[in-house]
Amino acid sequence: MDPRPIGVFDSGLGGLTAVRQLTAGMPNETIVYFGDTGRVPYGSRSRDTIRRYARQDAAFLLSQNVKMVIAACGTVSSVAADLGETLPVPFLGVLDPTARAAAAATRSGKIGVIGTTATIRSGSYRRALAVLDPTLQVFDTDCPLFVPLVENGFLAEDDPIPRLTAERYLAPLIEAGVDTLILGCTHYPLLEPVIRRVMGENVALIDSGRETALACREFLLENDLAAPREQQGSRRFYVSDRTEGFAGIATLLLGGSLDGTVEHIDIESY
Ligand code: DGL
Repeated sequence: MDPRPIGVFDSGLGGLTAVRQLTAGMPNETIVYFGDTGRVPYGSRSRDTIRRYARQDAAFLLSQNVKMVIAACGTVSSVAADLGETLPVPFLGVLDPTARAAAAATRSGKIGVIGTTATIRSGSYRRALAVLDPTLQVFDTDCPLFVPLVENGFLAEDDPIPRLTAERYLAPLIEAGVDTLILGCTHYPLLEPVIRRVMGENVALIDSGRETALACREFLLENDLAAPREQQGSRRFYVSDRTEGFAGIATLLLGGSLDGTVEHIDIESY
């Protein structure tokens, strides 16, 4: 048993979709979340910059005495997958749990992957899927407009702005006949109703936040690191930009009330 918090970070608010799943599956855990709202997006930045940011994000979480660090960010998991090698606590990214779930879900062997430009450019999902099953066919495309749509709350299924954007991005994947689609960025589950409408009911959508939360639970239980049953779970949120306005969009991503404190930190000092 380990009562210490689980540390979770993302470039912004997308990682809250993973927090939502973590809280649902492990109500006794304390979660410390850092959203780098002052430097989002990561997905359009260089490899070196993303890796530097990821090191600082993890250093902040370590200063909060966390028992584990989760990069709830497809971009960091793809570009800084080796971050765990430098950390004194276990590290989990979204890549492996998500690739495993997609490989298990596909029937046709044709898997689509969508993510940020940095994620797709890194080829991380192609490699992870090839290791799991070299016969899988992977079709990927970056969707750079999805993150700003989510961060600005353009999510409604009947809103033409996200729908037309999704139609444009997803057309080649529909054309390729994928039966499974990896939502390779933790912001994307918020667009799930729109993506589902465009892809159709028969395509399995794999939510990286959900798969990572499940993998985290499994890891903590297997290693006797879960919080004691009598512990009352709680959440603390930290951001690198203004805290005002955080609650509104965060509530949406968390699928319920914020239920935790929000503080600003100076991430450049870590
Ligand atoms: N949520 C991040 C991810 O999963 C991306 C957003 C960004 O570009 O910063 O990739």
